[in-house]
Amino acid sequence: MTLPVPATGSTPALVLRPWRADDVEALVAAHRDPVLRSHTRHPLRDATEARRWVIRAGQGWAAGRRFSFAVCEVTGTSERLVAHVLLKEVVPGRPDAEVGYWTAADARGRGVASRALEALSDWAFTRFAAAGLTRLELLHQIDNPASCRVAEKTGYAFVEVLPARPPWPLDGHRHVRLRRTPPASTAAPASGRCPAPAVPSTAR
Ligand SMILES: CC(C)(COP(=O)(O)OP(=O)(O)OC[C@H]1O[C@@H](n2cnc3c(N)ncnc32)[C@H](O)[C@@H]1OP(=O)(O)O)[C@@H](O)C(=O)NCCC(=O)NCCS
Repeated sequence: MTLPVPATGSTPALVLRPWRADDVEALVAAHRDPVLRSHTRHPLRDATEARRWVIRAGQGWAAGRRFSFAVCEVTGTSERLVAHVLLKEVVPGRPDAEVGYWTAADARGRGVASRALEALSDWAFTRFAAAGLTRLELLHQIDNPASCRVAEKTGYAFVEVLPARPPWPLDGHRHVRLRRTPPASTAAPASGRCPAPAVPSTAR
């Protein structure tokens, strides 16, 4: 399963594909970033943990409930791992599921997360339409304005503030994208935008 994302005028094409054993080194390198670590529940500290994570990612695909994609920038014949996007909590007959993502520190700020999330969301609504999927949720802590912006740019309208609960020390935001909602930020109603960000950064 691969999902292609076309190049833009200033950034290379992306490809989304399942994680592979040979991604371990790049995965560990991405997880060395303290910002990424502060936003994930399961930071990967070494190759052993990363190898286990890649195996679990494959098991999620096999079980049909959790779909983790490595996101690579494609230049000519070479691929460079730059991000991760994830569809989780997929249950046949249940209308909602959740998305998640991170971008490697040196690839941030050039649309990688939003372009990859757009591709993931389109794929999810198509792939699981017959299973009844109509609603994707995106959760982040209130101190993560970059994630709020990714949500806005990909048509995930702000819905509500979620109270802090372990393991998340801060309140969060729930954003939602409905099937057939136009993806551009112009589609998000004014009421669907993030409230003014507060405090410093971590995510759900
Ligand atoms: C959130 C994250 C995934 C964004 O990845 P990215 O590839 O840089 O995202 P994009 O380039 O598509 O978009 C980022 C947007 O946030 C904006 N942004 C970045 N930092 C910001 C800040 N401190 N305040 C407000 N906006 C900010 C960028 O300007 C950009 O918006 P623009 O295109 O309108 O200029 C990345 O910062 C990251 O991996 N953070 C750590 C892990 C994480 O937070 N994961 C999400 C958990 S919910």
